[in-house]
Amino acid sequence: MSKDAIIQLKDVDVTFHNKGQTVEAVKDVSLDVERGDIYGVVGYSGAGKSTLVRVINRLQQPTAGQVTVNGQNILTLNGKKLRQARTKIGMIFQHFNLMNARTIADNVDYPLKGSKLSRTERKEKVARLLDLVGLSEKANDYPAQLSGGQKQRVAIARALANDPEILISDEATSALDPKTTSAILELLKQLNKDLGLTVVLITHEMDAVKEICNKVAVMENGKIIERGDLLTIFSQPKEKLTRDFINTATQIDQALEKIYKQVGDLGLDDHHRLIQLKYVGASTDAPLITELFKRYQVVSNILYGNVEILQDTPLGNLVVVMAGEPDQLDRAWQYCRDAGIQVAQLDPHDSEVA
Ligand SMILES: Nc1ncnc2c1ncn2[C@@H]1O[C@H](COP(=O)(O)OP(=O)(O)OP(=O)(O)O)[C@@H](O)[C@H]1O
Ligand SMILES: [Mg+2]
Repeated sequence: MSKDAIIQLKDVDVTFHNKGQTVEAVKDVSLDVERGDIYGVVGYSGAGKSTLVRVINRLQQPTAGQVTVNGQNILTLNGKKLRQARTKIGMIFQHFNLMNARTIADNVDYPLKGSKLSRTERKEKVARLLDLVGLSEKANDYPAQLSGGQKQRVAIARALANDPEILISDEATSALDPKTTSAILELLKQLNKDLGLTVVLITHEMDAVKEICNKVAVMENGKIIERGDLLTIFSQPKEKLTRDFINTATQIDQALEKIYKQVGDLGLDDHHRLIQLKYVGASTDAPLITELFKRYQVVSNILYGNVEILQDTPLGNLVVVMAGEPDQLDRAWQYCRDAGIQVAQLDPHDSEVA
């Protein structure tokens, strides 16, 4: 278990009993979130994501396991101590849960009611929070006057009112359009950087994870089936579900469908191979392809190319048809591998993506 973990879940189970039915929503999950992480948790609907994160502030009592937040055993806290611990864990949701009859400023002020701050201090704090999320001008408006993205900003300001060290975002961008989603994610990243806020980001969109997370866990049927730092997961996913999530995010699935059709029409023989090349880091496609020709007279025709920047590191994905003598094709293949590139031969008759 990591020393810097601000959140530690150990062997956590959550089992629901409802009308004679048993649902094991979370099964034997251990998870360390380190201070300053933006930890993505992805999975399809019903995977157990919300149940798992609700355990962190004990909105959900686990059936078994241990939960430590900021060095405190959350499961033994009661009454005032538990309430105090909870104020240090902010939460935002898909539905912003704002109070419609109150102004934006009053919404943000609401969690400060129990605090020791004076009226003036509270006013100042609300102004500061609204400034932080870029909504100073809306202080006296009502929620109905705001867009979805603005409402989520209010919810974020409210979640930060008690200076939490952890912010849990449960599908907070699911109801927003892509551009607004990006802006909210950017805001979370900035808060992470400026305030040292640790973020747990639950989503079913790998795109969101890709934009801001440094780590990611993939959940299926109550279990974490794969986890790791973002680049490793994106460049070397092991589980099929993880690959599915990533392929949806990079849209390579759609591209391959078209390519397979195109290649099917062309037909491949032993002088042509359909190959997917994946690389992490600086290795760019143009020099590689020139090199393959110079060394082995292999001609590469790029059918699909995509470079993404994840955490300042390029992650390249190319689909090419390589043409040449079979033994030279083998050598070209080996050359790519020696250069640290992941090489996979694609079969147009098999729809599974590498
Ligand atoms: N209070 C409850 N009582 C009974 N079953 C529950 C309860 N809460 C959740 N479940 C069940 O636990 C499982 C996990 O639910 P959970 O809400 O954690 O999934 P999720 O990954 O957050 O899904 P979504 O993406 O749809 O939000 C589901 O089968 C759900 O029906
Ligand atoms: Mg959920």
